[in-house]
Amino acid sequence: METVASTVIASFCCSKSRTGWVKPNIAAARSRTLVVVRAEAQAINPEIRKNEEKVVDSVAVAELSKPLTAYCRCWRSGTFPLCDGSHAKHNKATGDNVGPLLLKKQKE
Ligand code: FES
Repeated sequence: METVASTVIASFCCSKSRTGWVKPNIAAARSRTLVVVRAEAQAINPEIRKNEEKVVDSVAVAELSKPLTAYCRCWRSGTFPLCDGSHAKHNKATGDNVGPLLLKKQKE
């Protein structure tokens, strides 16, 4: 990280040439700037029902267009707010136990 920060700072500083101080070339500096983003896998459920393998809740609703709809609660779904099963990968990577909220159409 220090190396990256040093590179960024150096890119924006003026430099001296034989003819005097040279203004920084911001566009060139930006093209040389390296940004490192590291996403760390982290549990999002530190305490709720940790004795369960996966926390899934369901609610019966009388008026629904589909018999079952799963809503994401892990924030990893590619189809958010709907669950796409990404919680399984998240749980495996972090040891977490999050799962979707299931809305089930209530039988009449
Ligand atoms: Fe997030 Fe299923 S993808 S709960």
